[in-house]
Amino acid sequence: MSKLKIGVIGAGSISEAHLGAYVNNNKVELYAICDLNEQRAKEKAEKYGAKKVYVDYNDLMNDPEVDAVSICTWNNTHAEIATAAVNSGKHVLVEKPMTTNVEKALKLEEAVKNSGKKLQVGFVRRYASNTQVLKKFIDNDDLGEIYFTKATCIRRLGNPGGWFSDVERSGGGPLIDIGVHVIDVLWYLMGRPKVKSISGNTYNKLGNRKNIKNLSFYQAADYDPEKNTVEDMANALIRFENGASMLVDVSFTLHAKKDEIAIKLYGTKGGAEVEPELAIISEKHDTIMNMTPQVDSLTFDFIDGFQNEIDHFVDVCLGEKETFSPVQDGVEMTKILCGIYESAQKGKEIYFD
Ligand SMILES: NC(=O)c1ccc[n+]([C@@H]2O[C@H](COP(=O)([O-])OP(=O)(O)OC[C@H]3O[C@@H](n4cnc5c(N)ncnc54)[C@H](O)[C@@H]3O)[C@@H](O)[C@H]2O)c1
Repeated sequence: MSKLKIGVIGAGSISEAHLGAYVNNNKVELYAICDLNEQRAKEKAEKYGAKKVYVDYNDLMNDPEVDAVSICTWNNTHAEIATAAVNSGKHVLVEKPMTTNVEKALKLEEAVKNSGKKLQVGFVRRYASNTQVLKKFIDNDDLGEIYFTKATCIRRLGNPGGWFSDVERSGGGPLIDIGVHVIDVLWYLMGRPKVKSISGNTYNKLGNRKNIKNLSFYQAADYDPEKNTVEDMANALIRFENGASMLVDVSFTLHAKKDEIAIKLYGTKGGAEVEPELAIISEKHDTIMNMTPQVDSLTFDFIDGFQNEIDHFVDVCLGEKETFSPVQDGVEMTKILCGIYESAQKGKEIYFD
């Protein structure tokens, strides 16, 4: 059987997770790597054994050998590159966030529909085993009606700088970068309810806290502490048409005692936590039960999550599976993220029809 030929566009930090997972998949030939930074692309091609190196993604699109691409570039380029890919007859796995505004998201959705190609959005937490274990309980109605959820991702010191803190290239700060993961996985587990209204706030109070000493944090390759045009904190209340609601709080910097991640759902028959670790809460014979599933990883396993995501994408390209994270969900998530920014900017609740 001939192998699925993959091109990876954007050879920075997260490309490592894609490249490693493709190399582990025996249905794939890792064929090409593209980056504006040729040296970076060459190094990755050598490390992972890809035949071709491109600097301009349009040249990769014109290569008929490529069947599918992973897009691991700055957020503002995702939609344009994904559109070019599907128009060139290639399937697409695009990193989160799918794009930075609703107009671009809708255009991409149209392009995908017209092309007949597959697009999977890199909502990697959907593919994590703790999420999929819980999904089975939810699908079997163990939580009943889920009416309240909480999405928290707090970094007390963690603005990565570089393009992440340049709003032109990132589309925003912690909300669009890390908030997207926790909001999306909850929305997916809630059964993708239609959003009704959003009330959001963003704050630019602390900046990137470049003055802090003796506490290390992840910094982008082109870190420059003088540049920062993104929010340092965001919160929101999202209301859905089915009556459910979600509370969100996310930050790059905050005077918090420690970093925190929480993904929690509350229903009429039970509750659940995906993070900080998988737990299912219920009631039996008038007694509250806190249940701990006996699984290899109760929390998000980065390597395993990416391997599941990539393996699933490969099977989608081969027509063996449907994606868990289609372009339509990318559009809805873009509406939610941009809705939070719009509400914050206007200083009032916004409504969707
Ligand atoms: N799923 C996750 O958990 C996760 C984690 C980190 C990053 N990401 C996403 O992955 C993407 C990349 O993030 P990163 O941390 O790897 O950033 P990075 O800065 O380390 O790498 C981005 C690379 O893209 C290249 N690039 C930018 N525009 C390009 C273009 N038009 N053509 C070719 N190359 C281009 C840059 O030169 C750079 O090498 C972002 O969208 C980010 O949100 C996802």
